[in-house]
Amino acid sequence: MKIIDEMQLYYDQRATIYDQSRGYDDPSILVPLQPVIDHIGCELKNLNVFEVACGTGFWTQQICHFANKILATDFNQSTLKQAGMKNLPSDSVSLQQADAYDLSHIKGEFDAAMAIDWFSHVPKSRMDQFLEGLHHILKEGATIIFCDQLAGENSIAGIYDGEGNHIQERNLPNGSKHRVIKHFMTEEEIEARFSAYAKEIRISKFPTCGRLVIVYSLK
Ligand SMILES: C[S@@+](CC[C@H](N)C(=O)[O-])C[C@H]1O[C@@H](n2cnc3c(N)ncnc32)[C@H](O)[C@@H]1O
Repeated sequence: MKIIDEMQLYYDQRATIYDQSRGYDDPSILVPLQPVIDHIGCELKNLNVFEVACGTGFWTQQICHFANKILATDFNQSTLKQAGMKNLPSDSVSLQQADAYDLSHIKGEFDAAMAIDWFSHVPKSRMDQFLEGLHHILKEGATIIFCDQLAGENSIAGIYDGEGNHIQERNLPNGSKHRVIKHFMTEEEIEARFSAYAKEIRISKFPTCGRLVIVYSLK
């Protein structure tokens, strides 16, 4: 199975336990994440946001209080179903199935995009295609936010595929094993990846909760 398909299947099968496995159903997890939520929320204040790979909608739920509207999308119906159970405000949040690598059918006017724990899963060979497809549906000068994890003590598996993607093995409670791509980009790699598209790139690190937030505005 191709690794992109493998990751889609992995998150499909993980959907019902995702929030619990991330601690997202534990109010105490919100405390260290709050500075990240506030940082992203301030950047997206009153904007119309396209969300890539929203998963079970944890971040959608946090950020919808700041944004004007969010169209939250994911490849998997199973994760969207979980998001739909969160009673997200229907006047400002819509959920839609969408493949991040083909956004050609997306309708709407967006002055921002966000993706949490997504860009780190994009194969190096697909990064430009994904970014160009995303930028294409956004307005000129739009704000784009990617939030991913900082490398922890045990994050680096030391396994790389043929194109240099860092590979981790993940296990589900049913015993199934899945390979996922997981990048931990350095600031230099981030600058090199986004500078062709960005007017300015700002990188913020939140070591207490192990998060890194990239914000840029489209050229
Ligand atoms: C690590 S989870 C992050 C979910 C959510 N953003 C969060 O932080 O809670 C990655 C998400 O990417 C979704 N995904 C995988 N492949 C995708 C694709 N090709 N297009 C859109 N979403 C995809 C998965 O279904 C999963 O919900």
